[in-house]
Formats: sequence, structure tokens, C-alpha cells
Amino acid sequence: EDPPLFHFSEVPSTQNWLKERLESNAFPPATAVVAERQTAGRGRPGNTWHHLPGNLAMSLWIPQDKTRMALPWTILTAHSVLLVLERAMGKVFGIKYPNDIIILESGLKVGGILVESMGEKGDLIGIGLNRNTPPISGAGGMVVSGKPLPPGPLELPFWIQNVILEHFGGGFSAQDLLSFLDDRLLWKGQWISFSEGGRGARIGKILGLGERGHLRVLDPQGIEFLLPVTVRDVRR
Ligand code: BTN
Repeated sequence: EDPPLFHFSEVPSTQNWLKERLESNAFPPATAVVAERQTAGRGRPGNTWHHLPGNLAMSLWIPQDKTRMALPWTILTAHSVLLVLERAMGKVFGIKYPNDIIILESGLKVGGILVESMGEKGDLIGIGLNRNTPPISGAGGMVVSGKPLPPGPLELPFWIQNVILEHFGGGFSAQDLLSFLDDRLLWKGQWISFSEGGRGARIGKILGLGERGHLRVLDPQGIEFLLPVTVRDVRR
């Protein structure tokens, strides 16, 4: 009853691979697909996602009945990916709200999350990581979800899949999860500008994560407002 993890040397896009098959197949929740190479990876709307050797490309399917929780999947996925990366790599990662995965100390982007709603068919989660780092070693004793770590290139995807599964069962308290991510927010406490849909730039100071996974921001008049996860871009 463990969800499958399909593994390919090359597909155009793991996101599209799952999307196409969901039309006519029934998959268990958190079914994942991993590709060593993508030839037509997609980033957030309108962007291509370029694939460099060694990159991780992964998509997971979340059925709709698993999505009715207080926190959006972008947030749950960021938490899952950071948890796994930190355990595996022994350094602190963070998020540039809401979709970019960064190395916290440098702010460098190492990956991105793309969550696509398919209406009543649920959500597709896409994770791309620039993994031009040495293979993960010294992690052999680590266990996620009580399962031992399998060797090989599927280590990280397998871990991520398992943490996502733990989210289904309410394996993490929302409070712990939000405070974990709150400690890992790029530019927290700093003034930034961001664009929201077509509404132009707005200036604010990042205060932290709100209880629904929104970004709490202070405007120049000292008034706090919330930024939803759909925000397109945040810049210093
Ligand atoms: C971003 O724009 O930062 C999000 C990038 C998401 C890329 C991943 S790679 C696996 C999955 N398949 C795709 O075609 N895109 C996502």
C-alpha cells in the first residue's frame, strides 16, 4: 500500500507525465514520478525549467480529499523538502516566499516548487532541485517515517514522498511546521518589494508566517497585512 515511485531516465516533464496519466489511471495518494532528465520542464506559469545534469525533478499527486487542510500544499511541500534536505545535507535551507528553495546563509536558489490544482482531480506538486552537489553520503543511518533509507539516486525523492505522506496523517503540528518555516524565511525582518498579480509593486517588511501559511507583512504606514501564497514575486 506504499504509493509507487516511478523512475525514468528521461521524460519531457514529470508534471505532465502524471497529469496525462491521471486522466485514465487510478493512482494511490502521493504517487510520485522522478526523472533523471527533463527535456521540457515547466516552471511557474510561463517559465521553462532548465534541467542541468544531476538535477532532481519530481512530481507527486495529491487527491482532493487530502487537500482540505488549513495549510496550502506549497507550504507543506516546502516544509517536506527543507526537512529532507537538511537531514541529508547537514546545512540549513530556507524559502524565498512562497515557491523558491534557497540556501539560507547565501540566499542562493537551489530549487523551486510548482503546485498545480487540477480541480476535482486534486493537486500536482512539482519539485525541482539543482543538485550539483556530491552524492549524499553519511546519511545511511537516517530514517524517515520509520523506514530505512534506500541507497541510490532515489534517496531524496523517497524521503520527500514519505514526509508528504506524513502530512496526510497529520504527522506534524501546524504550529511546529510554521515555526520551522518561519525560522527559514529569506529576508525576514527586512523591507522588500513584491508584485501581486497585475497590481504592481508594493513595499513591506516581512514579519513572518501567518497561521494559514500567508506571509505577514508590515506596510510603510505600520499596518500589517497578509500576502497569499499566490504572490508572483518578492524582491529585496
Ligand atoms: C519554479 O518555477 O521555481 C518551480 C519549478 C518547478 C520545476 C519542477 S521539476 C519537476 C516538475 N516537472 C516540471 O515540469 N516542473 C516541475
